[in-house]
Amino acid sequence: MKVKRPTTFLGTPATAPGPLGPDMLRDFALIRSNPLAFLEKSWRAYGDVVQFPIPKPPTYLINSPQGVRQVLVSNGRNYGKSTIQYRALSLVTGEGLLTADTDIWQRTRPLIQPAFHQALLTELVPITESVTEGLVDQWRKIPRDAVIDVDQFMLAGALEVVGKFLFGANLATNSHVITDATLSALEVVIARARVPITPPSWIPTPANRKLQRSVNTLDQAVRSMLRQRSNDTTHLATDTPNMIDLLARATDQHGNKLTARQIRDEIVTFIVAGHETVASALSWAWAVLAADPALQAELALEVDHAQVTGAMAVENLPRIRAFYDEILRVYPPAWLITRKALASDSIDGHAIPAGALIILSPALLHQNPQVWDAPKTFDPVRFLGKYPRESFIPFGAGLRQCIGKDFAYVEGVLLLATLIAKFTVRYPEGGQIPQSDPLVTIRPRGGVALRVSLRE
Ligand code: HEM
Repeated sequence: MKVKRPTTFLGTPATAPGPLGPDMLRDFALIRSNPLAFLEKSWRAYGDVVQFPIPKPPTYLINSPQGVRQVLVSNGRNYGKSTIQYRALSLVTGEGLLTADTDIWQRTRPLIQPAFHQALLTELVPITESVTEGLVDQWRKIPRDAVIDVDQFMLAGALEVVGKFLFGANLATNSHVITDATLSALEVVIARARVPITPPSWIPTPANRKLQRSVNTLDQAVRSMLRQRSNDTTHLATDTPNMIDLLARATDQHGNKLTARQIRDEIVTFIVAGHETVASALSWAWAVLAADPALQAELALEVDHAQVTGAMAVENLPRIRAFYDEILRVYPPAWLITRKALASDSIDGHAIPAGALIILSPALLHQNPQVWDAPKTFDPVRFLGKYPRESFIPFGAGLRQCIGKDFAYVEGVLLLATLIAKFTVRYPEGGQIPQSDPLVTIRPRGGVALRVSLRE
């Protein structure tokens, strides 16, 4: 698309079409209230490579299938994570896997990956089963015509799963201190991200003091848990090692181990990255099911005829998995991925200068009609056949792909299958699928208020 525009923004060359300063001003309210809707509007107006009129850093939205692939996979090493979004998150997560820039990440991921997979294989299924049984008990007790916010149940359930995964079942007290402090620190970081000009974190504003207090509580609680775990060796004979034990023991081929600080950063990262993401996907799943009784019946029937226990559940339930995939396509929890170009590059014929901020959005790539048929239609069946795998990126792609992808499938499919087999959901009078709010994850605005009843 041809647009008339200046050739530079305050000295930064304009190398791709995009909105001008006055357009951005006009859309200021939309940028604040719904940044994803603004990105979508820009993509539909200017095409798959959009440049925003921001000189420092030059800022691009990339939404062509090959452009996204280039940034994440084929030239992935040229794109680091030192971006404003990840730096803000790192006030809480430190240099954990999600926010670490390439150098540190290259050293830590090989240490963490095997520990993570060992814990995943032995721990995740029983933990998810017991947390889901807890949900079943709670839902059974709900009075017949009561309306509940299913989103709150999914958030609590997903937090419990990740907490037990990290800390084992025996460390309940400390683990609450840690998860509470993490969520409270995260709240400050999110609030900061919504305000365009925020005082630096060392200025003692009330918000910064809250952040500091939460981070201190977090640090102390993790230190005390690690001390407790290494002083008291009695648990070694009886307990299955929890994720913290595995991280403390992990050694790479050069004999390197993680420091206490690194273990703290990874624990906090897993809490941040591993609970709201799964909860959002599950809440959207209920929101869609409540509007479609036929789909509920079809999925429940699949569960009736399959073996749902154990790690094989995901393979044994292709329709539930396809439904979960379609949820992840239409409502990808992690809707924003950012990168910094380390050296200059060219994407779809547009020069990308070194230092540029690159914005990618799974939510937009999943709507690109170049690769997806009828992208606006919710249709789980598309995942039962051939689909454009390379353009399905709810978990990212390439080197920095989500370490928790299998975790998210096992937890999500097991939990959904168990509950779908036992309960039906419907909207109260006048209820409908909620609007989406792109916060840290894509959230259902106002929650998901539903009536839940035992399946006949
Ligand atoms: C439906 C659920 C989930 C979604 C949609 C999701 C999405 C993502 C995405 C898109 C990335 C890549 C970010 C980037 O490239 O910048 C990512 C990375 C990551 N995720 Fe997830 N995630 C989910 C569940 C989990 C779980 C359950 C955990 C852990 C228990 C987890 C831990 C991580 C970590 C540690 C990273 C950083 C990996 C690295 O750079 O080495 N995620 N996730």
